[in-house]
Amino acid sequence: MVIGIPSFGAADVLHPARKRPAFLDVEDLVYEVDGNRVLDRMNIHSSAARIGLIGRNGSGKSTLARLLGGLLEPSSGRVTIAGLNPWHDRKGALATIGILFQNPDRQIIFPIVEEEIAFGLRQQGHSREEAERRTGEILAIFGKTHWKDAPISCLSQGQKHLLCMMSVLAMRPKLVIADEPFAGLDIPTRRQIKRYLEMSECGIILVTHDLQDIADYDEVYWLDRGKLLAQGHPDDVLRCYSKEMNRQGESDDIAILAG
Ligand SMILES: Nc1ncnc2c1ncn2[C@@H]1O[C@H](COP(=O)(O)OP(=O)(O)OP(=O)(O)O)[C@@H](O)[C@H]1O
Ligand SMILES: [Mg+2]
Repeated sequence: MVIGIPSFGAADVLHPARKRPAFLDVEDLVYEVDGNRVLDRMNIHSSAARIGLIGRNGSGKSTLARLLGGLLEPSSGRVTIAGLNPWHDRKGALATIGILFQNPDRQIIFPIVEEEIAFGLRQQGHSREEAERRTGEILAIFGKTHWKDAPISCLSQGQKHLLCMMSVLAMRPKLVIADEPFAGLDIPTRRQIKRYLEMSECGIILVTHDLQDIADYDEVYWLDRGKLLAQGHPDDVLRCYSKEMNRQGESDDIAILAG
Protein backbone atom coordinates (compact mmCIF):
# COMPACT_ATOMS: atom_id res chain seq x y z
CA MET A 1 0.00 0.00 0.00
CA VAL A 2 1.36 3.36 -0.98
CA ILE A 3 0.83 6.01 1.63
CA GLY A 4 1.96 9.52 2.37
CA ILE A 5 2.27 10.73 -1.20
CA PRO A 6 1.10 14.32 -1.42
CA SER A 7 -1.48 15.80 -3.71
CA PHE A 8 0.04 18.62 -5.73
CA GLY A 9 -1.97 21.79 -6.33
CA ALA A 10 -2.55 21.71 -10.05
CA ALA A 11 -4.70 24.64 -11.03
CA ASP A 12 -1.98 27.20 -10.35
CA VAL A 13 0.60 25.54 -12.55
CA LEU A 14 -1.50 25.28 -15.71
CA HIS A 15 -0.29 27.19 -18.70
CA PRO A 16 -2.66 30.18 -18.91
CA ALA A 17 -3.28 29.63 -22.62
CA ARG A 18 -4.57 26.17 -21.82
CA LYS A 19 -6.92 27.26 -19.05
CA ARG A 20 -10.60 26.87 -19.77
CA PRO A 21 -13.76 27.07 -17.74
CA ALA A 22 -14.26 23.96 -15.56
CA PHE A 23 -14.51 21.23 -18.14
CA LEU A 24 -14.20 17.98 -16.30
CA ASP A 25 -16.17 17.46 -13.12
CA VAL A 26 -16.16 14.15 -11.34
CA GLU A 27 -17.97 14.07 -8.03
CA ASP A 28 -17.81 11.21 -5.57
CA LEU A 29 -17.64 8.76 -8.45
CA VAL A 30 -18.03 5.13 -7.44
CA TYR A 31 -18.02 2.11 -9.74
CA GLU A 32 -18.74 -1.36 -8.45
CA VAL A 33 -18.82 -4.75 -10.18
CA ASP A 34 -20.46 -7.65 -8.34
CA GLY A 35 -20.08 -5.84 -5.05
CA ASN A 36 -16.39 -5.07 -5.67
CA ARG A 37 -15.48 -1.42 -5.62
CA VAL A 38 -13.36 -0.71 -8.70
CA LEU A 39 -13.43 3.08 -8.29
CA ASP A 40 -13.86 4.57 -4.86
CA ARG A 41 -15.28 8.07 -4.36
CA MET A 42 -13.21 9.78 -6.98
CA ASN A 43 -13.24 13.56 -7.31
CA ILE A 44 -11.71 15.48 -10.20
CA HIS A 45 -12.35 19.11 -11.05
CA SER A 46 -10.20 20.24 -13.92
CA SER A 47 -10.02 22.80 -16.65
CA ALA A 48 -6.74 21.47 -18.04
CA ALA A 49 -6.60 20.82 -21.78
CA ARG A 50 -4.27 17.83 -21.62
CA ILE A 51 -4.57 15.35 -18.80
CA GLY A 52 -2.56 12.18 -18.23
CA LEU A 53 -3.91 9.18 -16.30
CA ILE A 54 -1.37 6.81 -14.80
CA GLY A 55 -1.38 3.91 -12.36
CA ARG A 56 -0.46 0.27 -12.07
CA ASN A 57 -2.28 -2.50 -13.93
CA GLY A 58 -5.74 -2.87 -12.47
CA SER A 59 -5.73 0.51 -10.74
CA GLY A 60 -8.90 1.60 -12.54
CA LYS A 61 -7.69 3.80 -15.41
CA SER A 62 -9.69 2.14 -18.18
CA THR A 63 -12.75 1.99 -15.97
CA LEU A 64 -12.45 5.71 -15.29
CA ALA A 65 -11.89 6.40 -19.00
CA ARG A 66 -15.04 4.44 -19.88
CA LEU A 67 -17.06 6.24 -17.22
CA LEU A 68 -15.82 9.60 -18.53
CA GLY A 69 -16.74 8.56 -22.06
CA GLY A 70 -20.25 7.57 -20.99
CA LEU A 71 -19.67 3.90 -21.83
CA LEU A 72 -20.33 2.78 -18.27
CA GLU A 73 -22.95 3.92 -15.80
CA PRO A 74 -21.57 5.10 -12.45
CA SER A 75 -22.75 3.09 -9.44
CA SER A 76 -23.02 6.42 -7.68
CA GLY A 77 -21.63 9.92 -8.04
CA ARG A 78 -21.55 12.13 -11.09
CA VAL A 79 -19.53 12.78 -14.23
CA THR A 80 -19.93 16.08 -16.06
CA ILE A 81 -17.93 16.92 -19.16
CA ALA A 82 -18.40 20.30 -20.83
CA GLY A 83 -21.64 20.60 -18.91
CA LEU A 84 -23.13 17.28 -19.98
CA ASN A 85 -23.64 13.93 -18.35
CA PRO A 86 -22.07 11.48 -20.83
CA TRP A 87 -24.06 8.45 -19.64
CA HIS A 88 -27.50 10.08 -19.77
CA ASP A 89 -26.91 12.42 -22.71
CA ARG A 90 -25.64 10.03 -25.39
CA LYS A 91 -26.31 12.47 -28.22
CA GLY A 92 -24.39 15.22 -26.43
CA ALA A 93 -21.59 12.78 -25.64
CA LEU A 94 -21.30 11.76 -29.30
CA ALA A 95 -20.96 15.41 -30.26
CA THR A 96 -18.47 16.21 -27.52
CA ILE A 97 -16.33 13.20 -26.68
CA GLY A 98 -14.21 11.00 -28.93
CA ILE A 99 -12.83 7.73 -27.60
CA LEU A 100 -9.72 5.88 -28.74
CA PHE A 101 -9.01 2.39 -27.46
CA GLN A 102 -5.79 0.45 -27.24
CA ASN A 103 -6.93 -2.09 -29.80
CA PRO A 104 -8.22 -0.58 -33.07
CA ASP A 105 -9.83 -3.89 -34.01
CA ARG A 106 -12.30 -3.34 -31.16
CA GLN A 107 -13.18 0.06 -32.55
CA ILE A 108 -13.38 -0.56 -36.29
CA ILE A 109 -16.71 -1.83 -37.62
CA PHE A 110 -16.63 -1.39 -41.39
CA PRO A 111 -14.47 -3.00 -44.11
CA ILE A 112 -13.63 0.18 -46.06
CA VAL A 113 -11.83 3.30 -44.78
CA GLU A 114 -14.40 5.81 -46.04
CA GLU A 115 -17.31 3.87 -44.51
CA GLU A 116 -15.57 3.70 -41.17
CA ILE A 117 -14.89 7.43 -40.96
CA ALA A 118 -18.35 8.36 -42.28
CA PHE A 119 -20.13 6.12 -39.77
CA GLY A 120 -19.37 8.29 -36.74
CA LEU A 121 -20.39 11.38 -38.66
CA ARG A 122 -23.69 9.79 -39.66
CA GLN A 123 -24.22 8.79 -36.02
CA GLN A 124 -23.79 12.45 -35.12
CA GLY A 125 -26.68 13.24 -37.44
CA HIS A 126 -24.81 14.59 -40.45
CA SER A 127 -26.29 14.00 -43.90
CA ARG A 128 -24.67 11.47 -46.20
CA GLU A 129 -23.23 14.32 -48.30
CA GLU A 130 -21.81 16.14 -45.29
CA ALA A 131 -20.34 12.91 -43.89
CA GLU A 132 -18.70 12.28 -47.25
CA ARG A 133 -17.36 15.83 -47.39
CA ARG A 134 -15.92 15.67 -43.88
CA THR A 135 -14.44 12.23 -44.54
CA GLY A 136 -12.63 13.61 -47.58
CA GLU A 137 -11.51 16.61 -45.54
CA ILE A 138 -9.97 14.59 -42.71
CA LEU A 139 -8.25 12.21 -45.14
CA ALA A 140 -6.77 15.23 -46.92
CA ILE A 141 -5.59 16.81 -43.64
CA PHE A 142 -3.67 13.63 -42.83
CA GLY A 143 -2.40 13.19 -46.40
CA LYS A 144 -4.31 9.94 -46.79
CA THR A 145 -6.77 10.74 -49.57
CA HIS A 146 -5.59 7.59 -51.35
CA TRP A 147 -6.89 5.50 -48.44
CA LYS A 148 -10.52 6.42 -49.19
CA ASP A 149 -11.54 3.14 -50.83
CA ALA A 150 -8.91 0.97 -49.17
CA PRO A 151 -9.97 -2.25 -47.43
CA ILE A 152 -9.19 -1.87 -43.74
CA SER A 153 -7.98 -5.47 -43.59
CA CYS A 154 -5.01 -4.33 -45.69
CA LEU A 155 -3.91 -1.69 -43.16
CA SER A 156 -1.16 -2.39 -40.65
CA GLN A 157 -1.86 -2.06 -36.93
CA GLY A 158 -0.30 1.43 -36.85
CA GLN A 159 -2.35 2.47 -39.89
CA LYS A 160 -5.50 1.20 -38.16
CA HIS A 161 -4.62 3.37 -35.15
CA LEU A 162 -4.32 6.32 -37.48
CA LEU A 163 -7.68 5.48 -39.08
CA CYS A 164 -9.35 5.35 -35.65
CA MET A 165 -7.85 8.70 -34.79
CA MET A 166 -9.03 10.23 -38.08
CA SER A 167 -12.52 8.82 -37.49
CA VAL A 168 -12.60 10.38 -34.04
CA LEU A 169 -11.14 13.74 -35.08
CA ALA A 170 -13.51 13.97 -38.09
CA MET A 171 -16.31 14.20 -35.51
CA ARG A 172 -14.65 17.34 -34.12
CA PRO A 173 -14.87 16.36 -30.47
CA LYS A 174 -14.15 18.82 -27.68
CA LEU A 175 -12.39 16.05 -25.81
CA VAL A 176 -10.59 12.88 -26.87
CA ILE A 177 -10.26 10.13 -24.28
CA ALA A 178 -7.49 7.80 -25.37
CA ASP A 179 -6.81 4.57 -23.48
CA GLU A 180 -3.26 3.46 -24.28
CA PRO A 181 -3.67 4.29 -27.96
CA PHE A 182 0.04 3.91 -28.72
CA ALA A 183 0.57 0.44 -27.31
CA GLY A 184 2.40 -1.83 -29.74
CA LEU A 185 3.37 0.93 -32.17
CA ASP A 186 6.91 1.51 -33.36
CA ILE A 187 8.57 4.73 -32.24
CA PRO A 188 8.06 6.85 -35.38
CA THR A 189 4.40 5.75 -35.74
CA ARG A 190 3.82 6.42 -32.07
CA ARG A 191 5.34 9.88 -32.34
CA GLN A 192 3.40 10.72 -35.49
CA ILE A 193 0.07 9.63 -34.04
CA LYS A 194 0.75 11.47 -30.80
CA ARG A 195 1.69 14.59 -32.76
CA TYR A 196 -1.44 14.39 -34.92
CA LEU A 197 -3.59 13.95 -31.85
CA GLU A 198 -2.05 16.91 -30.10
CA MET A 199 -2.26 19.11 -33.20
CA SER A 200 -6.02 19.17 -32.86
CA GLU A 201 -7.69 21.81 -30.76
CA CYS A 202 -9.53 19.36 -28.55
CA GLY A 203 -8.78 18.44 -24.95
CA ILE A 204 -7.07 15.11 -24.33
CA ILE A 205 -7.28 12.60 -21.53
CA LEU A 206 -4.54 10.09 -22.17
CA VAL A 207 -4.17 6.82 -20.28
CA THR A 208 -0.60 5.59 -20.60
CA HIS A 209 2.16 3.55 -19.00
CA ASP A 210 4.79 5.56 -20.86
CA LEU A 211 5.54 8.61 -18.76
CA GLN A 212 7.26 10.36 -21.68
CA ASP A 213 3.87 10.59 -23.40
CA ILE A 214 2.54 12.96 -20.78
CA ALA A 215 5.68 14.72 -19.52
CA ASP A 216 4.54 17.97 -21.15
CA TYR A 217 0.84 17.63 -20.29
CA ASP A 218 -0.95 20.12 -18.05
CA GLU A 219 -1.98 17.74 -15.29
CA VAL A 220 -1.42 14.15 -14.31
CA TYR A 221 -3.72 12.00 -12.18
CA TRP A 222 -2.29 8.94 -10.45
CA LEU A 223 -4.74 6.14 -9.66
CA ASP A 224 -4.00 3.46 -7.14
CA ARG A 225 -6.42 0.63 -6.40
CA GLY A 226 -9.41 2.63 -7.51
CA LYS A 227 -8.47 5.80 -5.67
CA LEU A 228 -6.87 9.02 -6.70
CA LEU A 229 -3.49 9.01 -5.02
CA ALA A 230 -1.92 12.18 -6.42
CA GLN A 231 -2.64 14.85 -8.95
CA GLY A 232 -0.83 17.87 -10.27
CA HIS A 233 1.94 19.01 -12.54
CA PRO A 234 3.68 16.17 -14.42
CA ASP A 235 7.09 17.20 -13.12
CA ASP A 236 5.98 16.47 -9.57
CA VAL A 237 3.59 13.57 -10.03
CA LEU A 238 5.73 11.66 -12.54
CA ARG A 239 8.84 11.99 -10.39
CA CYS A 240 7.03 10.53 -7.36
CA TYR A 241 5.36 7.88 -9.50
CA SER A 242 8.62 6.70 -11.09
CA LYS A 243 10.27 6.52 -7.70
CA GLU A 244 7.39 4.54 -6.24
CA MET A 245 7.11 2.20 -9.24
CA ASN A 246 10.83 1.46 -9.08
CA ARG A 247 10.50 0.81 -5.36
CA GLN A 248 7.57 -1.55 -5.92
CA GLY A 249 9.43 -3.17 -8.80
CA GLU A 250 12.15 -4.18 -6.38
CA SER A 251 9.60 -6.07 -4.28
CA ASP A 252 7.61 -9.18 -5.21
CA ASP A 253 4.21 -7.58 -4.72
CA ILE A 254 2.04 -8.21 -7.77
CA ALA A 255 -1.06 -8.73 -5.66
CA ILE A 256 -2.76 -5.84 -7.42
CA LEU A 257 -3.01 -7.95 -10.56
CA ALA A 258 -5.36 -10.21 -8.68
CA GLY A 259 -7.63 -7.22 -8.11
N1 LIG B 1 -16.51 -5.74 -15.84
C1 LIG B 1 -15.66 -6.07 -14.87
N2 LIG B 1 -15.85 -7.18 -14.15
C2 LIG B 1 -15.01 -7.52 -13.15
N3 LIG B 1 -13.95 -6.77 -12.77
C3 LIG B 1 -13.72 -5.65 -13.44
C4 LIG B 1 -14.55 -5.22 -14.52
N4 LIG B 1 -14.07 -4.05 -15.00
C5 LIG B 1 -12.99 -3.77 -14.26
N5 LIG B 1 -12.78 -4.72 -13.33
C6 LIG B 1 -11.69 -4.76 -12.35
O1 LIG B 1 -11.43 -3.43 -12.00
C7 LIG B 1 -10.04 -3.22 -11.80
C8 LIG B 1 -9.58 -2.05 -12.66
O2 LIG B 1 -9.59 -2.44 -14.01
P1 LIG B 1 -9.12 -1.46 -15.16
O3 LIG B 1 -9.26 -2.19 -16.44
O4 LIG B 1 -9.87 -0.18 -15.03
O5 LIG B 1 -7.59 -1.22 -14.79
P2 LIG B 1 -6.46 -0.43 -15.56
O6 LIG B 1 -5.89 0.57 -14.62
O7 LIG B 1 -7.00 0.08 -16.85
O8 LIG B 1 -5.37 -1.55 -15.82
P3 LIG B 1 -4.36 -1.76 -17.05
O9 LIG B 1 -3.21 -0.82 -16.82
O10 LIG B 1 -3.95 -3.19 -16.90
O11 LIG B 1 -5.10 -1.50 -18.33
C9 LIG B 1 -9.36 -4.53 -12.12
O12 LIG B 1 -9.10 -5.21 -10.91
C10 LIG B 1 -10.40 -5.27 -12.95
O13 LIG B 1 -10.28 -6.65 -12.81
MG1 LIG C 1 -6.57 -0.31 -18.87
